[in-house]
Amino acid sequence: MDPPADVQLQPGTANTADPSGAPVSEAVVRANLELAGVPSERIRLYRGFSGDPDIRRAVSDRPYGTVIVDGDHFAEGVRADLEWVEEIVAPGGLVVVDDYGDRTWPGVKEAADEYLAGGTAFELMGVASTSAFLRRR
Ligand SMILES: C[S@@+](CC[C@H](N)C(=O)[O-])C[C@H]1O[C@@H](n2cnc3c(N)ncnc32)[C@H](O)[C@@H]1O
Repeated sequence: MDPPADVQLQPGTANTADPSGAPVSEAVVRANLELAGVPSERIRLYRGFSGDPDIRRAVSDRPYGTVIVDGDHFAEGVRADLEWVEEIVAPGGLVVVDDYGDRTWPGVKEAADEYLAGGTAFELMGVASTSAFLRRR
């Protein structure tokens, strides 16, 4: 899910063009996934924010083996995403938290560490560069 709005939306910041120069659009998402071997007919793209109850309802129709969290980079948003993702990821499933430890986005690590220290079904498997890999018990 993403509100592909030509630029990267990051509430609370100046919304800037993607550093790659490519527009943030559904056509680019589909083309990139096709290049990665995912045919267009297998893609469900929900346009909107992860906090939108309608989007959540639509996406929550199945458990997921892998979820990549790479949307709102502020602590409050990351916390909310992790709480929700815990409900939709299958036992044994993997959650990748992008930009974990990235100095530009301190809220990502702050929220993930805090979340992991609480009573959660996630365990931290490891960190590679600025991606944290969590597994749902
Ligand atoms: C850092 S980009 C990553 C996009 C993609 N994962 C990639 O690596 O190309 C973050 C994207 O999340 C979107 N976004 C920001 N907050 C969001 C939210 N709460 N829910 C869904 N998407 C969000 C932005 O518009 C932007 O396209």
